[in-house]
Amino acid sequence: MKRSDVVQLLLHAAGLDVKLHPWQKNFIDDPSRFRIILKHRGAGATFTIAAEACAEALTHPASTILLISYSLRQSLEIFRHVRTIFSRLENTRLKHGHSIYRLMAKIGARTVELGNGSRIISLPNNPESLRGYRADAVYVDEAAFFRDDTNLKTAIMFTTVARNGRVTLVSTPKGKRGWFHEAWITENTWSKHLVKLGDSPHITMHDLEELRKTMSPLEWRQEMMCEFLDEVNAFISYEKILECVEDFVPARVVGGRVYVGVDFGRFRDSTVIIAVVEDGERLRVCYVEELRQKPFAAQLEAINRANMVLQPAVVAVDSTGMGAPLAETLAKTIPHLQPITITSSTKQILVNNLRNNILNKKLIIPADEKTLINQLRLYQEINTGHSLKYEAPAGEHDDYVMALALACYAAQTSQAQKIEASLFWRWGSASQLSAEKQ
Ligand SMILES: Nc1ncnc2c1ncn2[C@@H]1O[C@H](COP(=O)(O)OP(=O)(O)O)[C@@H](O)[C@H]1O
Ligand SMILES: [Mg+2]
Repeated sequence: MKRSDVVQLLLHAAGLDVKLHPWQKNFIDDPSRFRIILKHRGAGATFTIAAEACAEALTHPASTILLISYSLRQSLEIFRHVRTIFSRLENTRLKHGHSIYRLMAKIGARTVELGNGSRIISLPNNPESLRGYRADAVYVDEAAFFRDDTNLKTAIMFTTVARNGRVTLVSTPKGKRGWFHEAWITENTWSKHLVKLGDSPHITMHDLEELRKTMSPLEWRQEMMCEFLDEVNAFISYEKILECVEDFVPARVVGGRVYVGVDFGRFRDSTVIIAVVEDGERLRVCYVEELRQKPFAAQLEAINRANMVLQPAVVAVDSTGMGAPLAETLAKTIPHLQPITITSSTKQILVNNLRNNILNKKLIIPADEKTLINQLRLYQEINTGHSLKYEAPAGEHDDYVMALALACYAAQTSQAQKIEASLFWRWGSASQLSAEKQ
């Protein structure tokens, strides 16, 4: 019996009305030790590896299977598929001859242990947490999103070496960099599976049309046409951005001063609010909110609400053009409002300050804030011959980038003021001077 038939039977037994697509069957039947799937968004890849992992665990007693994701939230998401399959099977009785079989499974939040000694463990991106395992199969979901992926690669290879374990990488592309891209362009080692639009008929034309409306042209080429896009004019390299990415749920750090940046939407009726909080020497992104197609009154309300919740030291808002009257209204309720008119020179200061924060690893970005990370990655510096221009590529958006740049700028200027103030008081304080002399 083919492996794909086993998976299909399992899905049936679990009462799931899913018929595997030809690409899913080809992938499951591929006996290669190293497999890689390059796929568009929504293709069904996470589902496929989860279903295969379940079948492998059932048919190979005492096996250890690891599912690895770029964030804790994503590791719960992939495990959701595993849990659905096993909890449905738990309630099923299989009859064979005169015997009736029932699945024995201990299902946790991110692990499942079967009666046959097999286990499936879903882990977030942390090479250290892999070190104790000896795995028969490792699946890496959304592999192109991983930071620190050379360490991850070493840790995975080490994990599988003793058991001749299989490794599967799955992802939509994210630029010509990192382990996933390297594996995809390597000649031999990896057995390649490309899932193109149309290969997963559960996505209807209507779904695609709806998706197309929400995506910019570059996003579409990357996310749906599976293109590894160049970083020709990249203002900040993806590698550097990933060095600032950590897996955490954005929340206010107790005691740290908060700075908010607001970019009023011009192009797609979208306003973005981002806050950073001082965390030692660094700034941690602690709040991200996008307001799409909301009337001005609702936007002002959301900004006031964020101000109440976050209690920031400064709220820096883009007061260019139609931002001016909005800033004026906000100043009535937010005394610590800092309106900033964005000209080509103020923009240069704002985005360069943001860039320095990233290059010096002074910023901490949550792994799940995909739109923010993507906009930062695509943001460009273009040399026009007589000046430098900073912008998103044609058809793309920079509202997250500008909101973050404003928040970082507010932090920077306020910290500079703090230093000036403390220097002033040091000069002025005779008792402190005499204390220092002792
Ligand atoms: N063969 C199939 N037939 C119908 N629906 C499917 C099939 N394979 C996957 N799906 C469904 O498609 C949706 C997207 O799958 P997912 O695995 O999250 O995609 P991806 O990880 O490629 O973005 C899920 O709801 C999943 O259950
Ligand atoms: Mg997925």
